[in-house]
Amino acid sequence: MQILILCGTPKADGITRSFVDAAAQTAREMGCEAEVLELNALGLSACKMCGDGWGTCASAHNCSHANDFATLREKVRTADAFIYITPVYWGEASEAMKNFIDKLRRCEGTKQWSKEAPGDSFHKGKPAIIVANAGGGGGGILSTLQSLERAVQSMHGHVFDYVAVNRWNAEYKRAALREAVIALHRSHMEKKEKNA
Ligand SMILES: Cc1cc2nc3c(=O)[nH]c(=O)nc-3n(C[C@H](O)[C@H](O)[C@H](O)COP(=O)(O)O)c2cc1C
Repeated sequence: MQILILCGTPKADGITRSFVDAAAQTAREMGCEAEVLELNALGLSACKMCGDGWGTCASAHNCSHANDFATLREKVRTADAFIYITPVYWGEASEAMKNFIDKLRRCEGTKQWSKEAPGDSFHKGKPAIIVANAGGGGGGILSTLQSLERAVQSMHGHVFDYVAVNRWNAEYKRAALREAVIALHRSHMEKKEKNA
């Protein structure tokens, strides 16, 4: 099983990072291939909103303002499942996470009604675990999880689990994330056996 971990923190340490590490470690212990995509290091710009609001995202399912976005989309195509992990900034996902999602959902969420290049979203039918860490006062977790849920759904994926983290619950929520990764893997293997 291939798991793509989308990491929205710019920090090399801290609570959010510890969840990224826990997810990757647990996935690898289960025998999965786990890749961590450092979204902040990609330096993606905010969406330019081309044309009348739609650009090559809708027509060709690629972003003409992000170098190598096709390579990122290829990682999404080959992944079996996703783990989105972000710090909560202003009651939202981090800018790095938002910039990535904004571009990806424009590319993947438009294929089903595209005349030029119809097809299925690379996220279609695939499960995602979404994790939001409100490491400050603890506010804004729900709005962050809700917008991540909406993003996953608009790309025709589904949310397998929601992990809401703050500074007081981080220890047991980290354990919960590990259990969620194990359950995700189990569910994938069961489906695979059923379809064999
Ligand atoms: C620009 C910015 C906005 C933030 N907004 C919130 C917020 O709305 N709610 C909250 O609980 N924490 C907020 N924080 C704190 C972050 O959630 C916290 O620093 C983040 O989870 C990183 O924690 P970590 O370093 O332990 O991973 C904010 C931090 C930054 C830098």
